[in-house]
Amino acid sequence: MKQSKIRLDNVSASYGSADQQNLVQVLHNVNLDVQEGEFVSIVGPSGCGKSTILNLAAGLWSSADGAISGSIKVDHADRKQTIGYVLQKDALFPWRTLIKNVEYPLEITGLPRKQREEIAREWIDRVGLAGFEDRYPYQLSGGMRQRANIIRVLAYDPEIVLMDEPLGALDAHTRMVLQQQISDLWSASRKTVVFVTHDLEEAILLSTRVVLMTKRPATVSASRTIDLPYPRTVMNLKLTPEFRNLYENLWHEFCDLLR
Ligand SMILES: Nc1ncnc2c1ncn2[C@@H]1O[C@H](COP(=O)(O)OP(=O)(O)O)[C@@H](O)[C@H]1O
Ligand SMILES: [Mg+2]
Repeated sequence: MKQSKIRLDNVSASYGSADQQNLVQVLHNVNLDVQEGEFVSIVGPSGCGKSTILNLAAGLWSSADGAISGSIKVDHADRKQTIGYVLQKDALFPWRTLIKNVEYPLEITGLPRKQREEIAREWIDRVGLAGFEDRYPYQLSGGMRQRANIIRVLAYDPEIVLMDEPLGALDAHTRMVLQQQISDLWSASRKTVVFVTHDLEEAILLSTRVVLMTKRPATVSASRTIDLPYPRTVMNLKLTPEFRNLYENLWHEFCDLLR
């Protein structure tokens, strides 16, 4: 039986504090249940609280940030490195080469050099970066850096992967190539993924389920299962009537949310 990997029950959150008059209500009664093996995209207007949800799931919230209520449960299994978090801005170390960047989390877990190099090379290969192992981030294009950013997280095999608009800053073509790669990686691994994007099309193309959020303070306004088979070819899928139907339906709901 499938089990909940991330579960938010009636979660409300605010940054700042009322007495300092800098209170920002971000989330209002958010309910979200991400099951094992789902690829869930969270789509919502800019500033509605999407990154906040990922931060809460990653355990990156302290009482100094503000107040939260409700319950947040993340199934950790019995391992240390169980959540991988791909941030929107690429977080590569400028002083490390590509391969040394990908190896970094494996270094932290104490994996011997030979093994971590092997794993890093495999991932670099898989996303078409072979030959660039010894380049520094400034010598790579935006798309290459973002690929490195993503495989750095996948290489240590976390059980849950959180991604915050990982393709947001890329040009349209690079973006489509990376969408295809993310889709392929996911259909091969079937990991639990929570993917934040402001792009509804991208959300439908990649996900098993799309969750729409309202404006701030955000709450979940719709949750749609995307019943399209995998592996998916992003380019072809966009042209199918099934995709157009899903897109059109969700688009109207999405527009209402932006008003
Ligand atoms: N540390 C913080 N302190 C105060 N306000 C914040 C902080 N982080 C985010 N916010 C505010 O909370 C709201 C939601 O932020 P965020 O979760 O980043 O939204 P999204 O990712 O959907 O764009 C925004 O209005 C943002 O300005
Ligand atoms: Mg954000």
